[in-house]
Amino acid sequence: MKLLITGTDHGLGRAMAEEFLKRGNTVYAGEYCQATSLLNELEGKYPDTLIRFPLDVTSDSSVRDAVEVVKQHTDSLDIILNNAAILGDIEKSILDDLDFDEMVRVFDTNAVGDLRVCHYAMPLLLSGKTKLVLDISSEAGSMRTTHPGCTEHRCFAYFMSKAGVNMGGKIIATFLKDKGGHVLLVHPLWMKTFMRGEQDTAATFYPEEVAVMIADLAESYPDYMPEGENINFIDAQGNQLLW
Ligand SMILES: NC(=O)c1ccc[n+]([C@@H]2O[C@H](COP(=O)([O-])OP(=O)(O)OC[C@H]3O[C@@H](n4cnc5c(N)ncnc54)[C@H](OP(=O)(O)O)[C@@H]3O)[C@@H](O)[C@H]2O)c1
Repeated sequence: MKLLITGTDHGLGRAMAEEFLKRGNTVYAGEYCQATSLLNELEGKYPDTLIRFPLDVTSDSSVRDAVEVVKQHTDSLDIILNNAAILGDIEKSILDDLDFDEMVRVFDTNAVGDLRVCHYAMPLLLSGKTKLVLDISSEAGSMRTTHPGCTEHRCFAYFMSKAGVNMGGKIIATFLKDKGGHVLLVHPLWMKTFMRGEQDTAATFYPEEVAVMIADLAESYPDYMPEGENINFIDAQGNQLLW
């Protein structure tokens, strides 16, 4: 398969890039900051199937340029894998000194960023066989979750942005329905990544473990689609989540 993955510098994005490469796929890897990207470690290992380029999902021109790079190599994609995201402030509640500019940055990166990538890469996806949009969402974007970590009266920007990811995915699924396309919204569980600025050692899974689960899901995504639908919201272990 041919995949475009965003945010492949670190964490889950980097781990997924390596996992899909190991399985013989071609990975078009968008890196936010190539100087510090851990994909540098893979340089030379997959000379024909790893194609790297800078990608800032908040910038129209960056996304457009990145897709132009992909087009120099292929005329189709099987999967758009939206992974890039930032957390923003997770402490402040409604009466605190909220940073609305930062919230807009979080929303732009996480929700609008996914849409921007889908917009520019959609013609390639429509020319592919699989036509799967796989969005790394979060249980935090669920309206009905009862998970304690996702029912706080704070984390406005991140929670709202992930609900936006889900709604964006739902609208794209409607567009893709008569074209044979699908959307999978995946909560990648709690990972020991550096999203909070330092490694979250209390978390349950290493990103490499979750990358294996997500590559498995990508290979069998029709099994996770409810009858008659072309979209679902699940966790990386395939468990159904509440919208
Ligand atoms: N960690 C968890 O427990 C958890 C739980 C639920 C959902 N998630 C989701 O899982 C995904 C991966 O998160 P992670 O834990 O692996 O975090 P991470 O290590 O911080 O990875 C995020 C990636 O996105 C990149 N990025 C940031 N801003 C970007 C931009 N404007 N354009 C393009 N790329 C950008 C980062 O690049 P730099 O590193 O160079 O800044 C990094 O490579 C995210 O969608 C996150 O919301 C994570």
